[in-house]
Amino acid sequence: MAAADKAVLIVGGTSDIGRATALTFAQNKWTVQLAGRSLPDLQREADDISVRTGRQVTIHAFDALDTGSFTAFVDALPDLPDVVISVVGFVGQHAYAETNLEHAREIMRSNYEGPALILSLFAERFVARGYGSIVGMSSVAGDRGRGSNYFYGSAKAGFSAFLSGLRNRLATNSVQVITVKPGYVRSRMTRHMKLPPLVTATAAEVGEAVFNALSHRKDVIYVRSVWLFVMLIIRLVPEQIFKRLKL
Ligand SMILES: NC(=O)c1ccc[n+]([C@@H]2O[C@H](COP(=O)([O-])OP(=O)(O)OC[C@H]3O[C@@H](n4cnc5c(N)ncnc54)[C@H](OP(=O)(O)O)[C@@H]3O)[C@@H](O)[C@H]2O)c1
Repeated sequence: MAAADKAVLIVGGTSDIGRATALTFAQNKWTVQLAGRSLPDLQREADDISVRTGRQVTIHAFDALDTGSFTAFVDALPDLPDVVISVVGFVGQHAYAETNLEHAREIMRSNYEGPALILSLFAERFVARGYGSIVGMSSVAGDRGRGSNYFYGSAKAGFSAFLSGLRNRLATNSVQVITVKPGYVRSRMTRHMKLPPLVTATAAEVGEAVFNALSHRKDVIYVRSVWLFVMLIIRLVPEQIFKRLKL
């Protein structure tokens, strides 16, 4: 199939990473579907991508916390996309979540329940059709629990395990499942943080990495490969020592 006939759906299309990923696909002549909570924000984004690339971009209302609406959301899309990418995420405020269960629940649902269930629905549609690719934006935060972000990190760990299981189940089908662990990325989510340049990617780098991972049939990618080694070392630290580190 020519690139011009292919469609990608970005769930979480208002995010910095989602926007950059959508632009990369449009620049490579894909049709783009953007989904998210704010239709005005999505429309601004769609207009910008259309003007810059000449590609068709449609927008679709989607709330990851409203799981009861997921089937109707998928049914209402103009076409079942070739690729679906979930970049939905919510880091929240960990210290507040420690004493506020509703906030903790929102972090856990936004990073695990919503993304996993919507991708699960697309998996079934892709299996019935016979092809499709699923991409989940997880995080290195899910590779080991840390005292400063374990609601977010455990939800991302659950999401990574979900993607791994889905990939394992669909390995003999023509449905590809990719887990993306971006490491640090300069974005709205991290704008208050001072990030070390060597291990910090741009949103555009993530978009390129996702696009290339599809054609190279990757399973799990760390956007900057240095993170593979960083997390290998972090995972190897014995729990007796790790629990005393302030991370
Ligand atoms: N930035 C990093 O360093 C970093 C590192 C590792 C992983 N990630 C992951 O990368 C993804 C994108 O993050 P980002 O850095 O681009 O930050 P971001 O701009 O804050 O993106 C978060 C996205 O999730 C959407 N979202 C949150 N709750 C939602 C809900 N209930 N329903 C629908 N959409 C919802 C937001 O939509 P609204 O615009 O409506 O809020 C926004 O589009 C996230 O999954 C994040 O966890 C980021």
